[in-house]
Amino acid sequence: MKKPQLVWDIKPVSYILGKDAVKLSKKRLEEYNKRIVLVDENTQRHCLPVFEEQMEGFDIDGVIIIKANASNKSIDQTVHVWNELSRLGAERDTLLINLGGGVVSDLGGFAAATFKRGINFVNFPTSLLGMVDAAIGGKTGLDFGGIKNQVGLFINPVCVIIDPVFLKTLDQKQLLSGYAELLKCGLIMDKDLWETVENVRYNSVEEWDSLIVQSARNKVDIVRHDTYEKGLRKILNFGHTVGHAIESFLINKGLDITHGEAVAAGMICETYISSKFYEFECTRIKEIINTIDNNFDRFDLKKEDIPVLLELMQHDKKNKDGKYHFSLLRRLGKAVHDIEVDDDLIRESIEFYIEKKECESEEDNS
Ligand code: GLY
Repeated sequence: MKKPQLVWDIKPVSYILGKDAVKLSKKRLEEYNKRIVLVDENTQRHCLPVFEEQMEGFDIDGVIIIKANASNKSIDQTVHVWNELSRLGAERDTLLINLGGGVVSDLGGFAAATFKRGINFVNFPTSLLGMVDAAIGGKTGLDFGGIKNQVGLFINPVCVIIDPVFLKTLDQKQLLSGYAELLKCGLIMDKDLWETVENVRYNSVEEWDSLIVQSARNKVDIVRHDTYEKGLRKILNFGHTVGHAIESFLINKGLDITHGEAVAAGMICETYISSKFYEFECTRIKEIINTIDNNFDRFDLKKEDIPVLLELMQHDKKNKDGKYHFSLLRRLGKAVHDIEVDDDLIRESIEFYIEKKECESEEDNS
């Protein structure tokens, strides 16, 4: 890897990406009078010491700790953060420093944006998923009524600091979760990125720093043009319509699964659906599915689960007029959005996943 580093001021957000990004951010953060760090139990243990070491001499006025893992992106945890902000005397010019993965940045961003009608916050993603996706683009919120991200706001942090230094704190499951979003990024908009990652298993990637910067840049490029997800940004949801339903379904059953694992399953289903709309060579479909299967185990879903999954998909925010709307692959490296898909095809795609079927066409004619 050369030296992937970038300071990118795109109003109203500054992005500091790459090696030593944490150190580079120190001056900017010192502009705020009061600084409160939000961590979860894991990032308190593994990432706060790294942060403190990198930010030598940086004063912190308080640390708020929430419970770790996805099932805790809840209103109760948000109330806890509001209580702690009050206790610590947070004011409008206080900075909340979200140090963690997607749960911390989503929930912390929401709590900051609603406390005293909004205090500033920054995101230091510590998970691979956070670095390439969750911390970028101003989506904040929490799960509600058993539905993912049911309540929330689009609101940008003042700064996103993406430093691969935190990768060393991740276990394989977390690394794998972020890897799914890297694969997605390649599939929807970056053939070069896909070709770099497709032949490498996630645990043998050596060039994480440059892949993270490349993938994060791609996402920044999309959200700067469509912050409120009116059009183009929807392509980031490839794999997420079925994926979110699987994620909610399995989490509601008490299984410990990650977002990325669910998105990987969703991408298999949605690649199948894409192939029914657009011409895809069978070899291409196999290439995509094999790459996912080489890294992710299939979930043990049953045909009887499909009606529940369809029901969960009805809450997808891309839907219109009660119809399912998907983001699909037009070809490798190019996605399209707002494609209406009927129940039968969704059902077929989940059966394709469950039964590990293969692409059927004899001729590779595209
Ligand atoms: N994770 C999809 C988005 O930020 O739009």
